[in-house]
Amino acid sequence: MGIQAKNSIGQIEVVPALPDQEPVIANLVELYAHDFSEFQELEIGQDGRFGYRDLHHYWSEPGRHPFLIKVDDRPAGFVLVKQGSDISGDRTAWDVAEFFVVRGCRRLGVGKAAAQEVWRRFPGRWEVRVMMANQPARQFWAGAISEFLGETIRGIRTEVGGEHWELFSFASSGVPPDSKLRPM
Ligand SMILES: CC(C)(COP(=O)(O)OP(=O)(O)OC[C@H]1O[C@@H](n2cnc3c(N)ncnc32)[C@H](O)[C@@H]1OP(=O)(O)O)[C@@H](O)C(=O)NCCC(=O)NCCS
Repeated sequence: MGIQAKNSIGQIEVVPALPDQEPVIANLVELYAHDFSEFQELEIGQDGRFGYRDLHHYWSEPGRHPFLIKVDDRPAGFVLVKQGSDISGDRTAWDVAEFFVVRGCRRLGVGKAAAQEVWRRFPGRWEVRVMMANQPARQFWAGAISEFLGETIRGIRTEVGGEHWELFSFASSGVPPDSKLRPM
């Protein structure tokens, strides 16, 4: 499904990542982890990679959904969705486990279009948690979710395992009939 962002950036797609695309996601995860190492102590391995131990679970466990974000058919990011909240304990809630847009495609509406597309695909309760230290992402989520809902959402501050998070909790009613191609 194609989505249009602002500034005529090109065709944005959010496609389920197939098992043979796991290495593509793994490569993007390295860029993501490098960004995150600004906020979080992430140890880089002797091989020069951060790694993501449980990535393969996204192709082997039920309730996990890996997506590739593409712009003009090239990898531009990824979304890892899983069912079950790490914070509230709600087993049915959808969780944005990981979300990333490559730097060259940022501030063009790609992240917002991709996130909203994923929320439309999975109706029900959603949770998005973001580290308090990740100020740009906190602004991004507050805006993207508020626009999706059509009303301003406020996150709740919470602490889990000594980490400070902002948690956004909301509901998606699913794919509206007219949402096939949505100009931003
Ligand atoms: C956060 C992230 C996903 C945003 O992706 P993006 O494609 O650049 O976001 P969009 O272009 O859709 O931004 C939509 C709006 O969010 C807000 N926003 C996005 N990035 C922002 C930033 N760095 N600082 C402040 N606000 C920001 C702005 O309001 C923006 O609208 P504007 O560009 O018209 O001002 C991207 O920066 C990223 O991958 N960061 C590293 C990984 C990460 O932090 N992931 C989230 C984990 S919880």
